[in-house]
Amino acid sequence: MTNVLRQLVLFCIIIPVFKALNLNEILIIVSYDAFRNEYFDRGVTNFTNQLRSNSTRSKYMLNIFPTKTFPNHHSIATGVYAEEHGVTGNGFYDFELKQSYNYSYEMFHFRSEIKPIWILNELYNGNSGCMMWPGSDYLYDGIGCTHKRHYNLSENFHERVDEMFEWILDKKNPANLVMFYIEDPDNHAHAFGPESPKITELVAKLDKTTEYIHKKIMFHSLEERINVIHLSDHGMDSMQLKNVIDLTKIVGNSVDFYGSSPVLQIVPKIENELDKIYEKLLNVSNIMKTFKVFLNNELPERWHFSNKYRVGPITVVAELKYGFQDMYESAKWYEKAYNITVNENNNYGVHGYDNAIESMHPVFFAYGHLIKEFNEIEPFNSIDLMYLFCEILGISPPNYLQGNREHIKGILKTSEMSKTSRWIVLTVSIIISTILVSIAMLTINYWRRNRANVPTYLYEHEDTILDDTKLHGSINSTPQSTLATSSTLFNVA
Ligand SMILES: *[C@@H]1O[C@H](CO)[C@@H](O)[C@H](O)[C@H]1NC(C)=O
Ligand SMILES: *[C@@H]1O[C@H](CO)[C@@H](O)[C@H](O)[C@H]1NC(C)=O
Ligand SMILES: *[C@@H]1O[C@H](CO)[C@@H](O)[C@H](O)[C@H]1NC(C)=O
Ligand SMILES: *[C@@H]1O[C@H](CO)[C@@H](O)[C@H](O)[C@H]1NC(C)=O
Ligand SMILES: *[C@@H]1O[C@H](CO)[C@@H](O)[C@H](O)[C@H]1NC(C)=O
Ligand SMILES: *[C@@H]1O[C@H](CO)[C@@H](O)[C@H](O)[C@H]1NC(C)=O
Repeated sequence: MTNVLRQLVLFCIIIPVFKALNLNEILIIVSYDAFRNEYFDRGVTNFTNQLRSNSTRSKYMLNIFPTKTFPNHHSIATGVYAEEHGVTGNGFYDFELKQSYNYSYEMFHFRSEIKPIWILNELYNGNSGCMMWPGSDYLYDGIGCTHKRHYNLSENFHERVDEMFEWILDKKNPANLVMFYIEDPDNHAHAFGPESPKITELVAKLDKTTEYIHKKIMFHSLEERINVIHLSDHGMDSMQLKNVIDLTKIVGNSVDFYGSSPVLQIVPKIENELDKIYEKLLNVSNIMKTFKVFLNNELPERWHFSNKYRVGPITVVAELKYGFQDMYESAKWYEKAYNITVNENNNYGVHGYDNAIESMHPVFFAYGHLIKEFNEIEPFNSIDLMYLFCEILGISPPNYLQGNREHIKGILKTSEMSKTSRWIVLTVSIIISTILVSIAMLTINYWRRNRANVPTYLYEHEDTILDDTKLHGSINSTPQSTLATSSTLFNVA
């Protein structure tokens, strides 16, 4: 009998503790690279459209400048702009390290105090699963994802979903956060253009992937624990080679170019030629109006792109439908990789433009245990998402975040509840369950004492549980023991 009661007390307390700390929640962040909002209108995403209208959704999300893959994925995962996390492009020259970088450890380690969500989750004793998410290959202070899969295009979309669920259902280290990345429709849209039937086909395939994730949640009965956020890093637009601006015709051999169209970092080979080179570019830009040129102190403030180590000294940004001479090189690469023939009128997919442009906006919708259904919210910034991740995972948000917590409040069912009010709820539920259990014990005892035909020696030893000090002792000690036993209780999903 004592054992049954102890279990009951444990049970009554475990549930509120888990609820208060969100220890029971699982978060999946799904990114389909360069999925633009217009793709929902092609008539090939019936499942996703229904799921999306049942979810919390926004017409679009606002992303960061430049609207490129690595900068935006890292802003989603850290909650700060490119100037802070230092991933200022898919490639750049670093004036402090005096070297140029593409995808590398250094790219993702500009400021050591800024940690992506999968690392914060590990630091909070969670297990992160990283499915090809940009930047997740590298350790931060020696810590990495518990489960990880390096970028591997041969692993098809369904295999990736299966692997993700193996991580979540892992008996020893169940993943409570998965960063799930798919390189399409970006990959193919660069070569074929976002308008091509090839992309419509891929979008239909991704609709099936979204459905597969949803079905697996149901199949494993995880609806009461899982939260899924579907998003992209940026949109996509198209351009043709006839719209290439060849900057080498303006500045010749006097500079090095880093990054890729439509945003290039220009570094003069001779430092004191900066003003002359800038003026040349500005003159042409003023006449052609197909690109803009900026010195570091002229970059629009709304871009939050001021980083003297990894930006500039000159930044050129092409207008929509335009790109720079590096597009010729890319075209050759697409020709080989996709067996296509290139001419001046091929449509290529391009992104990276000003983040105020509609076709550059990413998608957002979310559903699951803590997320409101049938709910549309105003477009918000991708850097606001960190507050949402932290809330779902029960992590206290780092103090350096640059987003706004108010913007994501309308997404959560319990967002009215602050951390403190959750603790109040926890305390109250412990008190109430203690009272209920005490009443139950008193009743049982009273009932037994009054069963005249049972010899007293049969239940004499049970009197001790009514001893006040013992009762309080056992309840006070339960929170620790519940946390300790939590993994055995909730591992089995
Ligand atoms: C998707 O929905 C549209 C309109 O609701 C319908 O015409 C079309 O047949 C559906 N497609 C599939 C594959 O179910
Ligand atoms: C969306 O909600 C409707 C109405 O509740 C339901 O019939 C439908 O199955 C839901 N669809 C998805 C994909 O969740
Ligand atoms: C980065 O990539 C570009 C384009 O592919 C290449 O030209 C450059 O050499 C690479 N830089 C480094 C440091 O690997
Ligand atoms: C990439 O994925 C394929 C298909 O799942 C697999 O056969 C291969 O071993 C993987 N490569 C690496 C390096 O993991
Ligand atoms: C830029 O244009 C101005 C006026 O049109 C001209 O005086 C100047 O020489 C030009 N500068 C360069 C570097 O071409
Ligand atoms: C490339 O495409 C051409 C014609 O479209 C075709 O004949 C050829 O077999 C293809 N090559 C490869 C390697 O797929």
